[in-house]
Amino acid sequence: AKIRHYRWEVKYEFKSPDCFKKLVITINGRSPGPSILAQQGDTVIVDLKNSLVTENVAIHWHGIRQIGTPWADGTEGVSQCPILPGDTFRYMFVVDRAGTYLYHAHYGMQREAGLYGSIRVALPDGESEPFSYDYDRSIILNDWYHKSTYEQAAGLSSIPFVWVGDPQSLLIQGKGRFNCSTPLVATGSCHATNPECSPYVFTVVPGKTYRLRIGSLTALAALSFQIEGHNMTVVETDGHYVEPFVVNNLFIYSGETYSVLVTANQDPSRNYWAVSKMVSRNNTTPNGLAIFNYYPNHPRKSPPTIPPSGPFWNDIPSRVNQSLKIKSHPGYIHPVPKTSDRVIILLNTQNRINGSVKWSINNVSFTLPHTPYLVSLKENLLHTFEQTPPPDVISGYQNYDINKVAQNVNATSSNSVYRLKFNTTVDIILQNANTLNVNNSETHPWHLHGHDFWVVGYGNGKFNASEDPKRYNLVDPIMKNTVPVHPYGWTALRFIANNPGVWAFHCHIESHFYMGMGAVFEEGIDKVGTLPTSIMGCGDTKRFLRP
Ligand code: C2O
Ligand code: CU
Repeated sequence: AKIRHYRWEVKYEFKSPDCFKKLVITINGRSPGPSILAQQGDTVIVDLKNSLVTENVAIHWHGIRQIGTPWADGTEGVSQCPILPGDTFRYMFVVDRAGTYLYHAHYGMQREAGLYGSIRVALPDGESEPFSYDYDRSIILNDWYHKSTYEQAAGLSSIPFVWVGDPQSLLIQGKGRFNCSTPLVATGSCHATNPECSPYVFTVVPGKTYRLRIGSLTALAALSFQIEGHNMTVVETDGHYVEPFVVNNLFIYSGETYSVLVTANQDPSRNYWAVSKMVSRNNTTPNGLAIFNYYPNHPRKSPPTIPPSGPFWNDIPSRVNQSLKIKSHPGYIHPVPKTSDRVIILLNTQNRINGSVKWSINNVSFTLPHTPYLVSLKENLLHTFEQTPPPDVISGYQNYDINKVAQNVNATSSNSVYRLKFNTTVDIILQNANTLNVNNSETHPWHLHGHDFWVVGYGNGKFNASEDPKRYNLVDPIMKNTVPVHPYGWTALRFIANNPGVWAFHCHIESHFYMGMGAVFEEGIDKVGTLPTSIMGCGDTKRFLRP
């Protein structure tokens, strides 16, 4: 195994990823940042210098389980104190499984300012995937806002509440296109001819097969991605091999990754469009466009056709259908425990607290403490967060009508955590419900740090605790780290609490997590090794830094 050593400098720079100029958080001058390329078993070291001048930072390695290194998870408030301006923080962890992963800021709402990138972990020498391809490429899909992360965060926590609204554009590998002639765009801030916002070009050689690793790190949007005239075979998701299936368009939610195989088998005399489209919410965001370029056509030559328009935003059945199709590849099934030791039903609701709009789980809107849980729990600083754990099932769940706006929309906020018994099997039921608006339920992609879980079931309507578990897929469920709960539906996950540490579990929509849509699990804290002092310095952790 090798050591992969990266030195990154994080800073603000003016960039025009969609032709509109704004301040973007870059790594070594780039957004998306440099890709991490490693091989299974390698140790990755990232020396991260914070040059943001007036802003803290933290970076999370999304999909890397951090076995034995829970302090390297990069989650501000959970696994570490934020990195101060001017400081350099060393992240060091082992990438223990091949696959497609991501990294991104995990402090406030910095991710949407452009601080993200991809991680690609190759198989050990001599091992091969259960599929073949000629070339391996990665792209990240994203949505893009023109307001600063500060304006957005302030709006979300002010009274009256100011929603972030629809993204201004969609980016494919950091490139998009905003219409600079939109009224009220300040002169000088938008240039349609800026080469920074020329479409991303994916060049292919006719006849060759490409493994395209697609990750989504949208702040809000659920996406559909397609390549005009080409089918895609889904073969991997979140680091696990999928029983292959063919799609015309791929639905992908924030925090998910997929590998698809695409063969350049169409008329080679022209180029084609690759399109990302926002779905699941009615929206005004224009589609993201890239060029699927057949060599040797000119990479900037526009395809002669109009880009495919993609599925309707409200076509929920097609999205649920794709979720149901994702099964483990038969040769790579991780046997799932047949029973679980604990069932936690997490009711996802939109609420009001003191006049502000929040998201809650079992009526608790999550807030982060100032002292990271990993330090508090390991060192017994139990006064630093609320000790009454959130409920496993909300009281009155039996009578809760998920199809209506709640009778009592008030919730409480808390920073308490779920404490799991080490090595036990836990079922999580994500139960969706109506929002504060009549006839509205949203899609939420839930991401678990520190683990992969089996996706054992999806259902429409309200989860039935005595009947639905009988229909769980315990034969070939896929393992993932991020999964959607569809509107008015439920999703059931199973995982083993076998990774000592403290782990966030949250909706990957950045504004939703900011509005309280999350929870935290602790397991085996007594088995966590000595914490590095580099993660300390904030809240009550200062006591460990005094001589
Ligand atoms: Cu990719 Cu806690 O997030
Ligand atoms: Cu959400």
